[in-house]
Amino acid sequence: MLPTPAILLGLSAVTVASARAGLDAQSIFSYTSCPISGPASCQNTTAQANLCCFEAPGGQLLHTQFWDFNPSVGPSNSWTIHGLWPDHCDGEFDSRCDPSRNYTNIASILSNGGASDLLNFMHTYWKPDRGSDEDFWQHEWFKHGTCLSTLKPACISSPIEGQDAIYYFTRVVNLFKNLTTYNFLEEAGIHPSSTKTYTLDQITTAVKHKWGFTPALNCTGKSLNQISYYYNLKGSIIDGELVAIDAPKAGNCHSTGLRYPPKRGLPAPTATTPGATTRTTVTTTSTSTSVPIKANIVAITASGTQTGCLLTAGKWSTQACATYTIKTASDGFTLTTSKGLCEVSGGTFSCGSHVTSATIFTSTAGLLTYKGSTAFTSDSVPSGTAQVTVFTGSSHAQDITLSISA
Ligand SMILES: *[C@@H]1O[C@H](CO)[C@@H](O)[C@H](O)[C@H]1NC(C)=O
Ligand SMILES: *[C@@H]1O[C@H](CO)[C@@H](O)[C@H](O)[C@H]1NC(C)=O
Ligand SMILES: *[C@@H]1O[C@H](CO)[C@@H](O)[C@H](O)[C@H]1NC(C)=O
Ligand SMILES: *[C@@H]1O[C@H](CO)[C@@H](O)[C@H](O)[C@H]1NC(C)=O
Repeated sequence: MLPTPAILLGLSAVTVASARAGLDAQSIFSYTSCPISGPASCQNTTAQANLCCFEAPGGQLLHTQFWDFNPSVGPSNSWTIHGLWPDHCDGEFDSRCDPSRNYTNIASILSNGGASDLLNFMHTYWKPDRGSDEDFWQHEWFKHGTCLSTLKPACISSPIEGQDAIYYFTRVVNLFKNLTTYNFLEEAGIHPSSTKTYTLDQITTAVKHKWGFTPALNCTGKSLNQISYYYNLKGSIIDGELVAIDAPKAGNCHSTGLRYPPKRGLPAPTATTPGATTRTTVTTTSTSTSVPIKANIVAITASGTQTGCLLTAGKWSTQACATYTIKTASDGFTLTTSKGLCEVSGGTFSCGSHVTSATIFTSTAGLLTYKGSTAFTSDSVPSGTAQVTVFTGSSHAQDITLSISA
């Protein structure tokens, strides 16, 4: 189901409904007219007037994840989502900012808003250690989500009930999908173990190696239990750019003798493991899940930010989104644009009349997948009128994933 696109009313409001036609609740690309050329939140040197486009006072955003091992919660090969919290620049924070938006029906808001895939994902990866999923989501939304200035009702005009919450949950999940803590640690040889111990430095270095910045780690006793990734924000939380920063303060873990206890329970099925990031090759036997018939292909950069789309010839640009027609084929699907069929040839993605035999793709958790891998890459991130070529794999400077967005 495709909800009517939201119309955002900031102080610099423009109606961008036409550009959004065909985007569903989960494709948050270009939903606002907020520029991302200004200062990031907490990095401004003068007061910013339009708080629909500048996050304040909660401009120090932290995304927190759990490693819940006792009781074990969520897949045994993934950390799970705690939330996204808008702290003030000095670390203080507001909470429960708008009792009129204390929603009690997050699951139905998401499913009625066309975000059923998001809801399913949350049932696996956004879990409380006690109580119901619904209560936990209500708590996170009301306590933290309603404090985001860029999600205030005055910034959003939409016929969809709870559009503000849909934006919040969408953004948190998209961010989480790129912050694959379990994989970051695995790749540094740090595995859950009931006997081994690690130093805090080993853990933070492993994450920093993949993410680029220093996270904060919290422990229960001597066991890892939570990680916090900090960001400032350019533009709106709906579609702005999250700018990673080092954790402004350390968590409460000791520096040595840390445990990373195994979770009991099943690993996530590969097709939905949020390991589908730029540098992680996802290998699956049957990755083709249900895909829409018409879609935009939205690029997600290594920072987890949705930035532009693929154009009709297959180039990546921030100018516009082409409509891709998806046709089921044996073991996957093919892509076609108004220019012609799409292929991967010599590692380069393109579409046009030169293509005689369409390449078969699959999808992994909504990401375009080529030969079992969700990794795509380019020489640069486009801006302005630039159009850049997209390659398969990760051999070029910019790692991206491509989200199939109905
Ligand atoms: C940054 O902008 C916010 C929102 O307008 C304002 O409250 C804050 O004082 C500004 N910071 C600086 C250093 O001017
Ligand atoms: C918010 O809703 C919850 C029920 O989900 C209720 O327990 C709580 O008292 C409400 N709080 C406010 C401030 O409205
Ligand atoms: C981690 O521990 C610090 C220090 O006790 C605390 O201030 C912070 O709120 C904790 N973080 C989380 C995500 O619970
Ligand atoms: C997203 O993931 C990639 C690789 O896994 C990492 O290098 C990058 O820093 C991440 N970005 C953010 C903002 O988490």
